[in-house]
Amino acid sequence: MRLAFLALLVCGAAQAHDIITTPITWSREISRIVFHKCASCHRPRGSAFSLITYKEARPWVVAIREETLRRTMPPWGAVKGFGDFRNDEALTPEEIELIVNWSEGGVPEGDAKDLPELPKFPEAPQTNGIGQVAVNGTLKLTKPFRLDGLMPRKVLAGASFQITAELPDGSIEPLLWLKDYKDAFAHPFLYRKPITLPAGTVIKGVPQGASVSLLPVR
Ligand code: HEC
Repeated sequence: MRLAFLALLVCGAAQAHDIITTPITWSREISRIVFHKCASCHRPRGSAFSLITYKEARPWVVAIREETLRRTMPPWGAVKGFGDFRNDEALTPEEIELIVNWSEGGVPEGDAKDLPELPKFPEAPQTNGIGQVAVNGTLKLTKPFRLDGLMPRKVLAGASFQITAELPDGSIEPLLWLKDYKDAFAHPFLYRKPITLPAGTVIKGVPQGASVSLLPVR
């Protein structure tokens, strides 16, 4: 009698919370999106709070839906088409739809056996170290440089500017167009293909007082 009453209570509570109306689960679909597109920052010892387990992500579900729908997460910070970057982690429309359906369908966890393996993240991506050149204001290269990417070091909140390379032959290479800068954009911008900058190339567009590093190909 007492047991039956308890069971009823437990069932009632579970139902009130979890009305599941979607087949999409954290373990199958959503963890895969988060591991690929969010966990480079949102993980233990990352640059933002961790989202790599269901328990950690669950309280954030409304914010996750809103930030991804508005495309403010993952933060990118550069105008598309100005430079071609291999680490642009923008979500596809299909991924956004999965997140929306999951969040509106009761946020089911699913079965732990469907979870993918957590990717390995290098502790310090190649953003510190040797061979980098800091640019503040206009800079003329005295040696050739094989450019792998750019890293904003010191940029004022809200700043927007275009960085270009003027090659000795007169051609102009678009490097990066930062837009409405925020600290969340302080990540490396890595090119799909390295850019060869001959000696004499002039890097333009970094405002006085700001600092952006040229990252060399390793
Ligand atoms: C390049 C790093 C980076 C990536 C990638 C990234 N985020 Fe973030 N995110 C941040 C930072 C930094 C903050 C602010 C952190 C803080 O306030 O502690 C943030 C904040 C958030 C917030 C909280 C917003 C609020 O309401 O204050 C949510 C939700 C979020 N991110 C979701 C995501 C999701 C979902 C993804 C993947 C689709 C993602 N983020 C990818 C860096 C990142």
